[in-house]
Amino acid sequence: MGVSDAESAEVAAILQTQAAGGTVIEETREGTVVRAYFPLEASPELGAGALSTLAHRFPHLRPLDRPLMEKEWMQGWRSFFPPVPVGERLLILPPWEHRRPPEARVAVVIDPGPAFGTGHHPTTQMCLEAMERNLRPGMRVLDLGTGSGILAIAAALLGAEKVVALDTDWVATKAARDNARANRVLGRVSMLTGSLNGRLKAFDLLLANISSQTVIEVAHPLAHAARPGAVLAASGFLANSLSAVEHALGEAGWQPMDVLTSDEWRTLVVGRI
Ligand SMILES: C[S@@+](CC[C@H](N)C(=O)[O-])C[C@H]1O[C@@H](n2cnc3c(N)ncnc32)[C@H](O)[C@@H]1O
Repeated sequence: MGVSDAESAEVAAILQTQAAGGTVIEETREGTVVRAYFPLEASPELGAGALSTLAHRFPHLRPLDRPLMEKEWMQGWRSFFPPVPVGERLLILPPWEHRRPPEARVAVVIDPGPAFGTGHHPTTQMCLEAMERNLRPGMRVLDLGTGSGILAIAAALLGAEKVVALDTDWVATKAARDNARANRVLGRVSMLTGSLNGRLKAFDLLLANISSQTVIEVAHPLAHAARPGAVLAASGFLANSLSAVEHALGEAGWQPMDVLTSDEWRTLVVGRI
């Protein structure tokens, strides 16, 4: 079903409670799609229960359903998540991919569970590219709106000394923690449920792939959390919001450095004065 980015985590969480076959959030060119797989012969009524909870909570959504053979389900699920090389150094892989990455690339293993961030969306990829260009070993990194944890985990694998990852949705922080464990970086990455609170400070590199509205709202808290000279990559918005985001970040003490472009999506890279 087509959902907004803001709804997708909650829709997936509702379906996840009953979809024994798994739930994925797929980032397509047309928008965000949540797919849930229900084993039909074992429990046909389970899907109906989840759909009626959804209809109550999100009456405007129109779910589509169709039966799948198990083989088709397995192949379909996996074909959504081929390995994706990003930038010069990273390769994002699902956990079932056993081929070794080319030696020059750092493998980031991300399970495409209920949280946003499989590595296939343009905003995630631009944030990873901005990170590659600006991250130096030993830096402190903040990932606001971590979703699957992909940016935080990539930062740790590229040499960040300490990474703090926040998400207002506990379903996301749980998935992010599981992914951090699978990548053996949980010792350097803290996955916390919540948002900026004024106590988190002195970050060298900050990442916020959320939405124009949220980036505008947190422009000052992000500046407060940054060291002088820190770099922020802000994304999750389209070309028509770029000037509003740039203006709000400028008011909060951020200076424009670069704009990354992918289709209609934009990533603004700014530096803390
Ligand atoms: C588009 S996803 C980005 C996921 C991942 N960082 C990536 O780049 O693929 C945005 C995430 O931000 C979270 N979020 C939304 N508003 C937030 C806020 N004010 N503070 C922290 N997280 C927030 C959402 O729950 C969602 O998981």
